[in-house]
Amino acid sequence: MTNRVASASAPLTACEFFAGGGLAGLGLSSGRAGFGTVFANDIDPMKARAFRANHAGTLLAEGDVWDLTPAEIPGTPDLCWASSPCQDVSLAGARGGLKAVRSGAFWGFWKLMQGLDLEGRAPRIIVIENVAGLLTSGEGADFEAVCAAMVEAGYRVGALEMDAALWLPQSRPRLFVIAMREVEGPTVATPSGPFHTPRLIAAHARLSESVRANWAWWALTPPPRRNLDLSTVLEARVPVFTRAQTKALLAMLSPLHRARLDAVLASGERRVGAAFRRVRTLDGVKHQRLELRFDGLGGCLRTPSGGSSRQYVLICDKGRASMRRLTGREAARLMGVSDDYRLPTSESAALKLMGDAVAVPVVEALTRQLFEPALGVTDDGAVAA
Ligand SMILES: C[S@@+](CC[C@H](N)C(=O)[O-])C[C@H]1O[C@@H](n2cnc3c(N)ncnc32)[C@H](O)[C@@H]1O
Repeated sequence: MTNRVASASAPLTACEFFAGGGLAGLGLSSGRAGFGTVFANDIDPMKARAFRANHAGTLLAEGDVWDLTPAEIPGTPDLCWASSPCQDVSLAGARGGLKAVRSGAFWGFWKLMQGLDLEGRAPRIIVIENVAGLLTSGEGADFEAVCAAMVEAGYRVGALEMDAALWLPQSRPRLFVIAMREVEGPTVATPSGPFHTPRLIAAHARLSESVRANWAWWALTPPPRRNLDLSTVLEARVPVFTRAQTKALLAMLSPLHRARLDAVLASGERRVGAAFRRVRTLDGVKHQRLELRFDGLGGCLRTPSGGSSRQYVLICDKGRASMRRLTGREAARLMGVSDDYRLPTSESAALKLMGDAVAVPVVEALTRQLFEPALGVTDDGAVAA
């Protein structure tokens, strides 16, 4: 597998905000015509290094999105993508909502979109990627605020909740808010299919009348059944932990997860599982817990800030269990990134880079089924005038 990178001379152009390692751009470039990323921004020096190592032809502004000006953005981009930070709207984190400082970065991005609009250079498509928690944080006020900003700027807005597990052996549900102006992607009259989830339908029902009047249920077909599982992304010859280390980790299993492991060991079969160490609070006391799954999926890759959560691979064979860390390359494969992608040499940086990223095939599906048809790309990759 190779992720094709469109050149900056591709017929369609995109800007990537909160770009991280540039995985949104990899997905955007793999459509029929492909978007060339002409401008990107990220505040994190490690991410910026990774971006430059993989997208030499793209202008990258390293720094706070709030410090950018429209003058730095070349031309009229067809699409602007913003994977705005999600800590504060994450279901897993504190619910500070979009008013909190980090998620407030969305508004730094939005200010730029308004600046481009004043100069007659607004993109026809804007995409916001976030965690599904955006649907309910602030009792729906954050989702309303994002959608209302787009509607006020003349866009038609809709959203899709997409789990990367339909494409890749990783469970990674994410929300994609998609706004289009002057162009229109395929829609359905009423919510249907796996991407208009009950959670999204409930959030839509809470939106203001003016947003709902400009709402679109974007039409997207799920991919054929996935034939990859966790074992297909594993690197060969990765050293496993000592028996004592494995025993210490397995001692953190809850009785339910221990029973799950015992059943697999009793079968004697070779099975590869994913294990995740996290802190759980029980009766006000914090406990380290190891959680296991043997459904062929890796759990959602995360970026631990406190260093206590870790992702492991658990290999059971002939009644014995061995364990090791998930590698940065395996994490990249779980995001649909080809092996020619240059990862940071530090394993923890590579895991952080991938843990924050967007799954490439999900962006590719959006590109092929929604963005390119809206922008007049024909089946042979030509762009209709
Ligand atoms: C969820 S990650 C997006 C990763 C990206 N989609 C990818 O595929 O690698 C959010 C990114 O926003 C960046 N970020 C956070 N606050 C920012 C700010 N104020 N200005 C610019 N970038 C920011 C972080 O460094 C991080 O890389």
